[in-house]
Amino acid sequence: MAVDDRTLASVAAYDEHAVAYHASLRLRRPVADVRRFADMAKRHDLVLDGGCGPATDLRLLRDAGVHPVGVDLALGALQQARMLLPRHPLVQAPLQDLPFRERSFGGLWLSGAFTNLPRADWQSTFASLLRLVATGPVYLSCYRGNRDMAAVNDDVVGPIHISEAVETEVEALFASHGLTDVSVEVRPDPILDRRRPWVVALGRYGG
Ligand SMILES: C[S@@+](CC[C@H](N)C(=O)[O-])C[C@H]1O[C@@H](n2cnc3c(N)ncnc32)[C@H](O)[C@@H]1O
Repeated sequence: MAVDDRTLASVAAYDEHAVAYHASLRLRRPVADVRRFADMAKRHDLVLDGGCGPATDLRLLRDAGVHPVGVDLALGALQQARMLLPRHPLVQAPLQDLPFRERSFGGLWLSGAFTNLPRADWQSTFASLLRLVATGPVYLSCYRGNRDMAAVNDDVVGPIHISEAVETEVEALFASHGLTDVSVEVRPDPILDRRRPWVVALGRYGG
């Protein structure tokens, strides 16, 4: 699947502003979600952190007892991640076409990972990522709403394109792949609070 030009332009923004992006979110991570996710995984399992950015959650996942592999297209984000995690598996590749064997992961962590993808690509990208998972927890968070690649000027990274979903759509996405023990919640944004709600979903794949 070709990567949309607006996605690539957004990735370039995360690339350029990786340090500022990391600084803005470093202390505002979903720590309780990381723990719930890790509790559902097998200890020491490899889990895939898709769209990992500048290692916003990689360290938390590692500290919670799983082995995350970080993937992002933004080289600047991965370079920032590399400084924080000198010996960590980090891969520059598009979420839509990852260079891993099927069923090689024990969990999938997608924090804001689909934000810069056209809504029409969410289902197929989710399906291709799930093929990499044998069995384990799946986490997905996204902005709540129905915008589709809307041009916005993000306070930290500047002009990007963002897509959103509502909780029924995320529930349907999880249900269409047979995920079980699914919880879907609406949460305030860690920076903008209720001005920008998020949908946060956790479920179990396979097994
Ligand atoms: C909203 S940020 C989320 C970053 C991090 N997971 C977090 O929670 O802060 C989206 C990240 O996904 C990356 N990204 C966007 N589209 C991508 C794609 N098609 N393939 C790989 N990475 C992508 C961006 O470079 C960016 O780092």
